[in-house]
Amino acid sequence: MNNSVKDLLLTPVKLGDLQLRNRIVMSPMTRTRATLAHVPTELMVEHYVQRASAGLIITECTMVSGTASAFITDPGIYNDAQLAQWRKVTDAVHAAGGLIAMQIWHPGRATHPYNNDGVESVSSTDRAIRDDGINTLAGKVPQSKPRRLRIDELPGIVAQFRKAAENAKRAGFDAVQIHGAHGYLLDQFLRDSVNDRSDAYGGGIANRARLLFEVIDAAIEVYGAGRVGVRISPLVPYNDVSDSDPAGVVRYVAEQFEKRRGGLFELRHNQHTDPAELELAGIARNILTVPLLLNGGYTRESGEADVASGLADAVVYGKPYIANPDLVERFRLRAPLNDVDFSKLYAGGASGYTDYARLAENSHEHA
Ligand SMILES: Cc1cc2nc3c(=O)[nH]c(=O)nc-3n(C[C@H](O)[C@H](O)[C@H](O)COP(=O)(O)O)c2cc1C
Repeated sequence: MNNSVKDLLLTPVKLGDLQLRNRIVMSPMTRTRATLAHVPTELMVEHYVQRASAGLIITECTMVSGTASAFITDPGIYNDAQLAQWRKVTDAVHAAGGLIAMQIWHPGRATHPYNNDGVESVSSTDRAIRDDGINTLAGKVPQSKPRRLRIDELPGIVAQFRKAAENAKRAGFDAVQIHGAHGYLLDQFLRDSVNDRSDAYGGGIANRARLLFEVIDAAIEVYGAGRVGVRISPLVPYNDVSDSDPAGVVRYVAEQFEKRRGGLFELRHNQHTDPAELELAGIARNILTVPLLLNGGYTRESGEADVASGLADAVVYGKPYIANPDLVERFRLRAPLNDVDFSKLYAGGASGYTDYARLAENSHEHA
């Protein structure tokens, strides 16, 4: 293998309007280090700036409204106190030469009134998630039944996302990613195992994707198409969702995104080597001339391979970024990666969050 092929991940790339210095993207990851008022903390500033050598950071999912918390200490982007703290994050990342997009998100039924001042959760449906329960301020409890959103309430949801995009822009984010994955609100409309509506937002894929594209269009009005991304995960069953035709979902969402000349289309796989996932990536690649980002179980080698083949324009790394703030440098040097301490994922505090070791300075000698 010659060098130019080996190090494609380290080459610059233009994703929409964003000029990245490499093709290594940090995946959105919830780490529950905000305050109970959903304000980002100084620790979060440190965490993100430590990872600023990524070509692009995508933040953890961020609440579009005060009744859209799922994880108790998840951050929001709906008030000025939050905005001011996020501004510290974007300033620090930019000062370090990095780029950062915000993932904006509504959990829909994947939360509980206990986490939202008693306010009922909302969804495309009135059926609850079927699983073993949810963590709330009052401990672990059974999932609650959501309230089915009326059609006249949907413009209000779009307005929340629009406001979040406006706030993200004011806070200095380079782009926004619309969270259309993982069985959260927009995915509860997209997937036919959950969406049981008979109005203009239910039924065929054009109807089920309607809310997602209303949100994308609102974000495009705020940011311009080249700075708007979407993430979908058609084969990920998380939060009790599935679809009878995942290929049809990918085809429709990719076609519509392409038509709008969106900036970053991300397909989130469980494991990118799975043949069913590969097939979906191929479908997306055939449709999209705009950038395609792939995620799910990538290593340095497999990321290189998918960029080399032209399947992906950039590769999105999640768990490797938890324990390796200097992942780009480690890839460059073929250095071993630190292991993730899974007990600290949502533990709060600096331990297992901002205290993962960087490569020792002297390891450069072996480069
Ligand atoms: C601790 C943790 C938190 C996560 N939080 C989010 C999130 O807020 N938004 C999102 O879209 N995905 C989230 N994910 C999924 C990751 O972004 C990524 O898709 C997944 O870990 C697969 O990529 P990987 O194999 O490189 O880890 C999370 C994953 C982990 C491990």
